[in-house]
Amino acid sequence: GIGIADVNHKKGQETARHFTSQYGNNKAVFLQCDVTSDQQLEDAFKKTKQKFGQLDIVCNNAGIGDERKWRQMIDINLAAVVQGTYLARKYLSKLNGGSGGVVINIASMAGLILGPLCPVYTATKHGVVGFTRTMASFDPAFTAEDIRINTICPSFSDTSIIHKTVPPEFINSSTVRRLSDIAKLLPVSLVAEGFISLIEEDAHDKVMRVTHERGIDFHKFKKTPPMPSKM
Ligand SMILES: NC(=O)c1ccc[n+]([C@@H]2O[C@H](COP(=O)([O-])OP(=O)(O)OC[C@H]3O[C@@H](n4cnc5c(N)ncnc54)[C@H](O)[C@@H]3O)[C@@H](O)[C@H]2O)c1
Repeated sequence: GIGIADVNHKKGQETARHFTSQYGNNKAVFLQCDVTSDQQLEDAFKKTKQKFGQLDIVCNNAGIGDERKWRQMIDINLAAVVQGTYLARKYLSKLNGGSGGVVINIASMAGLILGPLCPVYTATKHGVVGFTRTMASFDPAFTAEDIRINTICPSFSDTSIIHKTVPPEFINSSTVRRLSDIAKLLPVSLVAEGFISLIEEDAHDKVMRVTHERGIDFHKFKKTPPMPSKM
């Protein structure tokens, strides 16, 4: 079963209906939730656990791309991913009476390279990559044997967010024209395929890229200098 937490009632219901029509009436539940509210986010965890008995997979996916609402964007794109990851540790970890599981945090290629017109979006997504990798390397709950944790970095994909991201004053700028020439939209199904493979192939501490040029692959980071192995 799946608990779909979204602030947008219409979108969330629609997604839940999509799942129930395919997998059966009891297989999805929509929970209206603003991820920037710690209380609402924890309620979504609690209610999903109540409904299905156990939590196995958490995907921190909510995001906006609006440089004019940059503080709110940090709250949604980064702070809520941090809180969602901490809640996953509380509800899933064997250290806290859970059965382990998987966390997948959704970043973006703007978490690995620079997004020219979106400095704060870029900062939030770099933040998600850095936070998730650090948890994977140093937090005792996030291991291959307990909660596996990974990041996905898609490039431009065909969803509603990209139509809202670019500020109108930039719409006719040469940068945007250049970007729209080079940025071909990915089908969402390719990102979904990457997501499933991270779950099925026991991935841990991976930063998956999904791009038009290379399809699904993994970002390789330079080795960091020796550090203590656990926090
Ligand atoms: N579409 C792309 O090109 C692209 C590329 C890379 C990464 N991403 C990331 O993928 C994720 C999903 O975005 P998408 O492309 O499907 O866009 P989308 O706008 O279709 O989906 C984002 C969802 O987040 C929800 N949301 C926004 N604020 C929220 C809040 N405060 N609380 C709860 N839910 C909230 C929205 O209602 C929406 O359903 C985001 O993190 C986005 O940054 C998207």
